[in-house]
Amino acid sequence: MALNSAVILAAGAGTRMKSKIPKVLHQLCGHSMIDHVIRAVKASHINDIIVIIGSGADQVEKKLEKSDVQFVLQKEQLGTGHALQQAKDKIPNQGNVIVLYGDMPMLSSETIKAFMAFHETERNDLSVLTAKVENPYGYGRIVKNHKGEMIKIVEHKDADEEELLIDEINSGVYCFDAPFLKKHLHDIDNNNNQKEYYLPDLISIAVKNQYKLGTYQTLNSEELMGVNSRKQLMEADAAMRKKINEKWMDEGVTIINPEHTYIEPDVKIGIDTIIYPGATLKGNTIIGEDCMIGENTRIENSIIKNGVEIQSSVILDSRVDEATTIGPFAYLRPGSNIGKNVKIGDFVEIKNAAIGDGSKASHLAYVGDAEVGKNVNIGCGVIFVNYNGKEKQKIIVEDDAFVGSNVNLVAPVVVKNKGYVAAGTTVTMEVPEGALCIGRGKQRHIDGWVDRKNIKKK
Ligand code: UD1
Ligand code: CA
Repeated sequence: MALNSAVILAAGAGTRMKSKIPKVLHQLCGHSMIDHVIRAVKASHINDIIVIIGSGADQVEKKLEKSDVQFVLQKEQLGTGHALQQAKDKIPNQGNVIVLYGDMPMLSSETIKAFMAFHETERNDLSVLTAKVENPYGYGRIVKNHKGEMIKIVEHKDADEEELLIDEINSGVYCFDAPFLKKHLHDIDNNNNQKEYYLPDLISIAVKNQYKLGTYQTLNSEELMGVNSRKQLMEADAAMRKKINEKWMDEGVTIINPEHTYIEPDVKIGIDTIIYPGATLKGNTIIGEDCMIGENTRIENSIIKNGVEIQSSVILDSRVDEATTIGPFAYLRPGSNIGKNVKIGDFVEIKNAAIGDGSKASHLAYVGDAEVGKNVNIGCGVIFVNYNGKEKQKIIVEDDAFVGSNVNLVAPVVVKNKGYVAAGTTVTMEVPEGALCIGRGKQRHIDGWVDRKNIKKK
């Protein structure tokens, strides 16, 4: 198979976004528009990618630093043809070159692959991805001869009355044979009413020079939607979200209210898991089977094993093992590693800490920089005092230990196996195995004190 490369046009200003941020960096479903395009291109096995930048070039380049793409600057935005001309020296001499837009986030790798396959099997020099749409307003129209062959593309603003009736539109996605493109790219000029270099002029140039060209009409016209405004951004977001949610429902996941469930494209979910409204699943999150993801839960880059129940909680860069329950209102910060059959209850915050199988922290506790063993009880109001104002230190609580309510464990400290810390104790030294640790003022009573102070009379 020929070697393929891609050029993504992303130099336009995007004034209708009314934003300090370049248009293609606006996000939907967890990724910027241009990131979606790059991901779709890479998923189509095209790894040689050039991005044409202009408006907000520095910001775009910085954001795409790790994307493994080349950048070409288009200093002045003189049209789509001019944009592609800037990349001429970087375009390979052989193979196919696909051209797309950075503001077309819905385009799927399936459509790209089908389009490229069409171009290959037809042995075309130039192919255009098109669609029939109900409202072609604003788009370039595909003009064909009586044999149904494309002869040119006419822009909406340059079209005559008859051409305006054509409902097959130019998506702006093209595939070129590299030698054709290199030879004729600079034949595009700006001799038109708009004084713009039109990339679609390559069609008439190809016709004139008797190259082989064709159109590939996709039925997924919604994928060709270009985003120009915040309203369109949210339309695209809703459409993409719907597609993701429907895919997971097809795969055996119950989503109670798909319109209010936010699942990013890289998330994976096992069968018979139920997701309640307002759940947001982000990044590389993997959720097992038979889980319950309760309302307004947010999970980012985390692994949740089978049978876990989570209510209204936030889980970031963490791992939760089988049959554990989390929340309501728990906060698992990065580095939390929660074992099997654990209970993390309401208003419990965990950070950079391992909690062993069968342990419980049922309410109101902070566990940071710690290693907690198996079957440990962490009472209500327990604080792992990990920070002395300068540095964070470690706290270890071994298997079967009991940490009573309102205990402070001051780092660095260890509670050995079966150590039992009485409620209200501040622990600053190692608690020996099986020992009771009690460190609180001895209780005493002053008889008649209340009457003497006349407290009740006030
Ligand atoms: C273009 C096509 C039109 C097609 C439509 C599909 C031309 C002349 N017309 O129209 O046939 O139906 O797309 O959406 O190509 N860009 C640059 N540099 C420039 C100009 C544009 O990088 O100098 C980029 C923009 O950032 C954008 C894309 O190219 O991502 C399309 O530009 P835009 O001005 O929106 O083209 P349209 O007029 O919509
Ligand atoms: Ca456009």
